[in-house]
Order: sequence, then structure tokens, then C-alpha cells
Amino acid sequence: MNDKSARKQFFEEGYLVYPRIFEGQELERILAACNRVLEKHTEWHDRQHPKEDFTNMRHLNDSQWHRDGLEDFKTIMELIADPRCLGPVEQIFSGPSLFRSTSYFVNPRFKSAEGNWHRDSQFMTKSDEEEKDMLKRIWNDPTTGYGIQFQIPLLDNEDIEYVPYSAGRYDSPEEYHIRMADNQVHNREQGMPNALRVRLKAGDGVIFNPYGLHRGRYHVDKPRRTLMLTYTPRSFPLRDFFSDQPWFEEPGHLDPLSPRARVFFEDFISTYRDFWTAQKKSAQKAA
Ligand SMILES: [Fe+2]
Repeated sequence: MNDKSARKQFFEEGYLVYPRIFEGQELERILAACNRVLEKHTEWHDRQHPKEDFTNMRHLNDSQWHRDGLEDFKTIMELIADPRCLGPVEQIFSGPSLFRSTSYFVNPRFKSAEGNWHRDSQFMTKSDEEEKDMLKRIWNDPTTGYGIQFQIPLLDNEDIEYVPYSAGRYDSPEEYHIRMADNQVHNREQGMPNALRVRLKAGDGVIFNPYGLHRGRYHVDKPRRTLMLTYTPRSFPLRDFFSDQPWFEEPGHLDPLSPRARVFFEDFISTYRDFWTAQKKSAQKAA
């Protein structure tokens, strides 16, 4: 796929599937590494909030999860900087990418729920008008205002539903009714016109445009272990919770990595170092 058609597909159709990026032992190693981090996170989570569900965790690369060995850290970090992930992402950006964050989506343990239909833009704006303005801005100049979420299901998964071609236009009346009407009471209902369930095999990659209509599914009995790698264009860093990763400054943090991965993350460190310092200072002041 050339640059133009990948970009076009992202902004028009809204999603791209890359079959079988990871397979066999490599896929097993990635799954095992992520699950060991998840186990530690679950222990930590359950101490704070016993019997409460969670459906994702952030920052699998946080050094707090890797105090007892660096193999899993290496597996996750090398994956983030792997050309098989960066290639598709940079085709869509038509330029270099910058790391942003990692997330791990998992099925709930206690209670099943349907996902709510949404566009991510609705969480970044306060009214329909504001949201429409934001979407229009992105449609007019797609080089700013978005990151790319590269999802890799590590187990077969069909939890994402997407409305193809909804990313480049606003809702039809039927879509708006389900997504937003009556204070969003309908947003978990069936019947979204043209909704497509994205059927993925373990090791596939998928990129979808989060400004199109989409939703997840959170069922106890449908196993989900999906890793999500988020990137921004290098020219568009975002200073917030996702990029606030001060553990990158720990001495020797990048030492276990390949030269290629080191260069990729050195760029991340030099972009955000000042932000991390400012964050630390304001936390100290508040304490
Ligand atoms: Fe979303």
C-alpha cells in the first residue's frame, strides 16, 4: 500500500487491517510479556479496589512493572519501535512518528457490558457545535489534531465495531440518535446503520480513525488481550497524562535496547524532558 492510499483509507474508510504481523513464538512471547505485566497491575489494582473491574491498563513500559527482570521490558519496548508497527503508522502520517503511550485492553472479570457508540472528539469538546468545529478542522487539515492507535490483538478478538466512512463526515440523523440524543441514553443500543464488526486474529494489527463512529464490547466470557500502541506525528507532541512518563529518565533506562529502539526513544526523551521536569516541580510544590 503506498502512502497516498493508506492515508486516504484512514481518513475516508477509517480503518486498516494488517493481517498476521506477529505469529508463532514471537506472538507467544509478546502475549506472555504483556500478561506478566497485567498480573502485577491486577495485584496492585485489587489492593486499592477489591472486586472492581477494569478493562484497560496504561503504561506497560513503566519501570515499576519491571523491577525483577528486563526481558518483558525489552520485548515491549522493541515492539513499540518495530518497523512493522512504525511503517503503517508513518505511512499515514506521511512523516516520522513519536512514541506516545501503551495500553492493554482486557475483558472484565466480574460484569459484562456493551460499549457505547461514540467519536473520541465528543470527549474533547463541550457541545455539538464545538465538536463539529473540531471535526471540520481535522477534515480540512488532517496533518494536525490526531494520533494513531495501533492495536494488536494478542488473542483472536471481535470486540470493535466501526461504521466505515463515518470518519470524514458528521452523523446522519439515525446515527446521531444512537450516539448523542436524549443525553446519550441510546448509545448502547443495537441498530447502528452499516456497523461492521472488525474480526481480528491474534497477531493482526488494526488502525482505526477514532473520530469515526465506533464502540467496544466488554464481556466477561469473551477473552480480550489487545495491546494498543499510540503514536503522534513527530511534529505534534502532546504534553499530558499519556506522555508523562518520567521513568524514561532513570539512569540506564534504554541500555537493554537495540540501537534502533534507543534512537527512537531518545527522541521521545528529548521531546518531553522539559515537560517531565515541570510536572515534577509542580507536584513538589503541591505536596
Ligand atoms: Fe474511542
